[in-house]
Amino acid sequence: MGTIAILGAMREEIEPLLSHMDNIKEVNYANNIFYEASFKGKDVVVAYSKIGKVFSSLTATLLIEKFGCDTLLFSGVAGAISSDLKIGDLVIADGLCQHDLDITAFGHPHGYVPEGEVCIPTDVRLREIAKDIAKAKGIELKEGIIATGDQFVACSDRKNWVKETFNAHALEMEGASVAVVCNALNIPFFILRAISDTADGSADIDFDTFLDSSAKISAGFILEMVERI
Ligand code: ADE
Repeated sequence: MGTIAILGAMREEIEPLLSHMDNIKEVNYANNIFYEASFKGKDVVVAYSKIGKVFSSLTATLLIEKFGCDTLLFSGVAGAISSDLKIGDLVIADGLCQHDLDITAFGHPHGYVPEGEVCIPTDVRLREIAKDIAKAKGIELKEGIIATGDQFVACSDRKNWVKETFNAHALEMEGASVAVVCNALNIPFFILRAISDTADGSADIDFDTFLDSSAKISAGFILEMVERI
């Protein structure tokens, strides 16, 4: 059994993970802290990247290349796009796309650059494990496309555009960049989010209100996953 990376974007997203870990050792690297730890006898490395695609790419790469992780689980919060996603609901990505990647001036679709893909699928086995856990525990787990961009979306027009353009169910700021890294390095990965807001005019207030509680819901589920991997 290899080492499992558990990544969040913000401190609030990983704190509820670390509080359940044993033998935590902090490693400072690249202006960040990586927490080598064990959870129920399994080796894990936990980190928060800081917000956005660039920081999350850097941290995902280091978790794989420097810390030797062979599976990556992302835990955090997202803005809902689908009207059936409520605050606190869990959503897993079946694929991730970058909603702010735009070279449409050259006739390409949104989210596409040559030699890339609009939508990168997550690992099917990890998704199946998640669905088994949800079923066993009676937890409702939604699944769909998650759209990523370097923008906090707090506007119905932008949210609706992302929905129509990518058929996305939720949006956040790190999933697709982590997907690009894991896909390129052949590392199975899984992106879980709990809804903190609905990406519209009240998103900023809702985010501040529900960040901690939703991050905790996501982290709790991720710990179940670690046990089962
Ligand atoms: N993460 C949580 N809510 C978000 C939003 N509304 N936009 C982008 N990322 C988010």
